[in-house]
This record gives sequence, C-alpha cells and structure tokens, in this order.
Amino acid sequence: MRSHYCGQLNTDLVDQTVTLCGWVNKRRDLGGLIFIDMRDRTGLVQVVFDPDQQELFATANKLRQEFCIRLVGTVRARPDHQVNATMATGAVEVMASELEIISRAEPLPIDFNQQVSEEQRLRYRYLDLRRPQMSHNLQFRAKVTSNVRRFLDQQGFLDIETPMLTRATPEGARDYLVPSRTHKGKFFALPQSPQLFKQLLMMSGFDRYYQIVKCFRDEDLRADRQPEFTQIDIETSFMSAEQVMAVTEAMVRQLFAELLQVELGDFPRMTWHEAMRRFGSDKPDLRNPLELVDVADLLKNVEFQVFAGPANDPQGRVAALKVPAKAEAISRKMIDEYTNYVGIYGAKGLAWMKINDLAAGRDGIQSPVLKFIPDDALQGILARTAAVDGDIIFFGADKATVVAEAMGALRLKLGQEFGLVSDEWRPLWVVDFPMFEQHEGRWHAIHHPFTAPVGVSPAELQANPAAALSNAYDMVLNGVEVGGGSVRIHNHEMQQVVFDILGIGKTEAEEKFGFLLEALKYGAPPHAGLAFGLDRLVMLMVGAQSIREVIAFPKTTTAACVLTDAPGFANPEALAELSVAVTVKESQ
Ligand code: AMO
Ligand code: AMP
Repeated sequence: MRSHYCGQLNTDLVDQTVTLCGWVNKRRDLGGLIFIDMRDRTGLVQVVFDPDQQELFATANKLRQEFCIRLVGTVRARPDHQVNATMATGAVEVMASELEIISRAEPLPIDFNQQVSEEQRLRYRYLDLRRPQMSHNLQFRAKVTSNVRRFLDQQGFLDIETPMLTRATPEGARDYLVPSRTHKGKFFALPQSPQLFKQLLMMSGFDRYYQIVKCFRDEDLRADRQPEFTQIDIETSFMSAEQVMAVTEAMVRQLFAELLQVELGDFPRMTWHEAMRRFGSDKPDLRNPLELVDVADLLKNVEFQVFAGPANDPQGRVAALKVPAKAEAISRKMIDEYTNYVGIYGAKGLAWMKINDLAAGRDGIQSPVLKFIPDDALQGILARTAAVDGDIIFFGADKATVVAEAMGALRLKLGQEFGLVSDEWRPLWVVDFPMFEQHEGRWHAIHHPFTAPVGVSPAELQANPAAALSNAYDMVLNGVEVGGGSVRIHNHEMQQVVFDILGIGKTEAEEKFGFLLEALKYGAPPHAGLAFGLDRLVMLMVGAQSIREVIAFPKTTTAACVLTDAPGFANPEALAELSVAVTVKESQ
C-alpha cells in the first residue's frame, strides 16, 4: 500500500511521487491551505493540500486527529525560511495529489498534548503506544533483543525454550498458580525464572543456552518490577564465573556501542561488603558522589545510647553521611522531612551536625546531639568525614541492615535533590555476596538455593553458613541491578547441605527438587550462568524512569491490566471443571 515511510523522506526524494500510510498527527488550516503532520512508526512529515484541487481539498477538510489515511503526493523542498529544524523531515514536505480516508477516528478519550495519568494511558494503551516516544521505546527494545540474539548466536549459544506450566521455581517471590483440569486439585506454577530447566539443559550437554523469556513473580511492584517481566537468560557449562562475566559484559558493551554509540569500557568489581559499607546498597549508583562513613568505633564509649548501643552491638552500625556545602541549604523542615523518609526504612531518628565554623570549635557546630559527643569522638568524626565549614553530616545508628537501607536511601534522595548525580554511565560488578542472610532465626539464600559457595566443602559450609561467600555476581548500572548470576552447585552432596541450611528437609527437597537432585547424580558438568532483566536494561538505555515505559502492555502497580480488565472473575462452570472453589464474593 505504501512506497515510503513518513520518517524516511528527505531532500534526496525531491520531485518523487510517494505513497504514504499512517495517521493524522495534527491538522492546521493556514492561509487557505490545509497542512497536516502525518505520522507512522518512523516519524512525522508535513503534507500540504492545495485548494485548487477541489475534490482532494474537500476530503482533506474532513481530516481530524488520528484518522488513518493513505495518500499519494510529491516530495518538495521547503523554502529555506520554512525549514523546521526540530523535525527530522523538516527540510521537505509532501504536496498531496490523492487522499484516501481509510478509517475515521472518534475524538480521542485522552489528549496527548496534556498531562495524562498513567492509569488513563494504560487504559488506552493502544493509543498511548502511537506516541512517538512510546513507539521509539518499543522499536529500541526490538533492536536490543535482535542485537542480543545476534551476539549470543555468534558466541555459540543455543536458544532453547523451557516450559511455562511448571513447578515452583524459587527466586524469592510468590508463585502465580494455574489449576490443572486433568489433575484435579493440583496446580502448575508459572516460572519465576527458567533456573532449574536451564541447569538441566547443562546436564543434557547443551553447553551454552540462552532464551529471551517471560518470568512471573507475584511480589510488591515498583518502578523497576513487574509481575511478568523478561529475562535474557543465559547458562553455560565448563565456564568459570570470570568467563561468564566476561562474555555477558562484552554483550552489554556491544549493545551500548552499537545502539547508543557509548563505550562502557571495563566494569570495575566491588565486593558486596564494600558496596554495603560505602553506599548502603548492593546496587550502588556510582554516579552519586556521597558515601557512608563508619564511625561506630569512635562512639563506643559515649553516654548517648542511641549511638553507643549500635556501636557496641556486633549486628549494629553507626554511619555518617556528609553532604558537602549544604548546611545552609538544608533547613530544619527539610531535616524533619528526611527523618520521616528514613523512618520508612525503619530508622528511629536522624541525627545531624552542621559544620558552621570549624575554627570556633564546639561553638561552630550546630547539632541536637553535640552535647552527647565528647571532644575526642567529635574530632574523630570530623577528621574521618573530612568535614569543612558549610558541610552537614547525617548519622544513622541501628542494626546494620537498617542503617544500610535507610542511609543508602537518604544518600540517593540527597544526591537527586541537590543535583549531585553525574550524567554518565557507571556500570560495575558486585561480587562476593554472603551465601545466606538470617531473618527471624532462619537462613535464606541471598541469590537462589542453587548458587555455589566459594572455596568450602559441604561439611565446612554446614559448620559455618554465616561466613560463606557465594560465587555469585550482579551487574549493576547506574544504581539498577540489571543482571545477576552465579556458579551453580553441581555436586549432589553440596546441594543437600544448602537445602539443609535453608531448612528444606529431605522430604521437602525430594518433593520439590527431586528431579534436580537426581540429575546431579548422572554426570553433571560444572555450570554457571546469569540472567539480565531485559526491561531494566532497555529502560536505562532509553532513559525512562520505569520499566512500564518499555513494555507494550504492562500491569499497573496493583498488578492489574486496566486495558483488558484482567484479572477477572472466572465463570462458575470453568471453576467447577477445575475443582476450584473461590472463597471471596465478587463484590469484594
Ligand atoms: P534474579 O532473580 O536476580 O536472578 O533475576 C535476574 C534479573 O531479572 C530482573 N528482574 C526483574 N525485572 C523486572 N521485574 C521483576 N519483578 C524482576 N525480578 C528480577 C533483574 C534481575 O537482575 N535465575 C536467576 C538468574 C541466574 O542465576 O542465572 C534469576 O532469576 O534485572
Ligand atoms: P532523641 O534523644 O531520641 O531525641 O534523639 C536525639 C537526636 O538523635 C535526634 O536528632 C534524633 O533524630 C536522633 N536519633 C534518634 N535515634 C536515632 C538513630 N537510631 N539513628 C540516628 N539518629 C537518631
């Protein structure tokens, strides 16, 4: 139906006849002429209708926003003074000679020139996706997946599909369950990731696997979390952690070089402990120059229990966060607001200290906790934070996990608020994670239960789970965890020990993961892999603030689809056939 796309037209095509198909983006009537901006997925071009062609002009007069049209016309150069530098095709326009209205459009339910709520955008997503920004995002996403495929194909990775109807795959979220009709009372789980299947594929000898695959996790949603999202999932045999990091890093470097003309260079390594210590986060945003500084050792003997308590608690932490030259800019009201903010993360308060005039000694320092801090501790804090006049220092004192979360979040907030975050790409690998963390007396895997520990025997691991590090690695880019992976356990006994530490008894392990434990007995190769969050990578690359901006039909933050009104109630016959009884009433 068409000869060219709108966005392709340029001065090389002057005097050529073109046939375009697309939508009326905007219509203007000027000095007896009708102008429209015509749009397709490649962009916009201006079309002119001349009143001398009466029939054509009469049809053009009927055009309204978002009519779907086909037109024939001649490309002509715009006079110099009419060239529109803000438009990719702004040097040309099309003089229309034929116009067909293919479909009319009712007045739009949303006005894209106004601020539209996200709920409305998702409700009319098919219209929202016509917007050039959204069209660009999805086209860019397609380029990313095709580039990734090409890279991995060239590296000898095989694209192999794994089931969507499966058993629970533990990645730490709740499962989406699907009732089985043929096995009444039983349920499939949608995969949280293809983790177990990709490991089995290694045991089958496929050696290098990848898949661009949907994963399903029923968890609290945020800007970078969706209940169904896409992974670039990778697994290899006979490759070390270093080799997996090298190949996946090369993949990301190539993506940035080819699609954004950005050279990311090598990615620095940082241990998990260093990341938590300096940034209070296992996904540090290195564009932000603020850092936490530990001061517990200086405060062990102060009388102020808010500090001394955590300073003397092996699980405790006291950290300072200095914001250079912001003492004056930060009012009491703002401090109250920051105190509330860290409260969200469980902090019980936020002590602070303004350094007004160091030369004036204690008189030059303004702080509600100054009276509790003796001279030597004060000098120690000022020296360690390298504080100078005009700085403000915040303090967090609590369990180490609370301090890291609260002060890590405050660090990000202050960095944003004061424009301290630089405009660059700062990738890194976070490595040497602890194997386990303890909540309420139970051990949990920091990655997943199939991650191998570093340098310990099964007996040593069993004896001291707290000390074990995992052979895992996360790729972090500008404060976003874009990917994570590990070397896997390929030894039956080690896998049993890990299940044991996690409180997964023999019977439960057998019931849930019997097939994996069994497969480990038949010549399992050493294997390692990684999965990228494709949505997150694309979000960063297009500069979006949420992964919903790079997913065609995402869910809302309450895990619903307002376009199709899913999830919906099932009809009673379907439920009866599935032997499923619903215990809530429809009105609830
Ligand atoms: P993990 O759980 O770290 O590892 O997931 C890998 C990557 O997937 C992305 N991601 C998400 N993106 C959007 N919405 C979500 N709800 C969501 N959850 C995770 C993140 C994350 O880094 N099987 C392992 C990988 C492996 O060990 O090979 C796994 O799934 O970017
Ligand atoms: P209080 O003695 O509780 O009034 O606290 C004195 C100062 O210490 C106030 O500025 C509090 O915000 C701050 N503060 C209280 N608890 C903590 C904490 N856990 N970490 C950091 N500062 C705190």
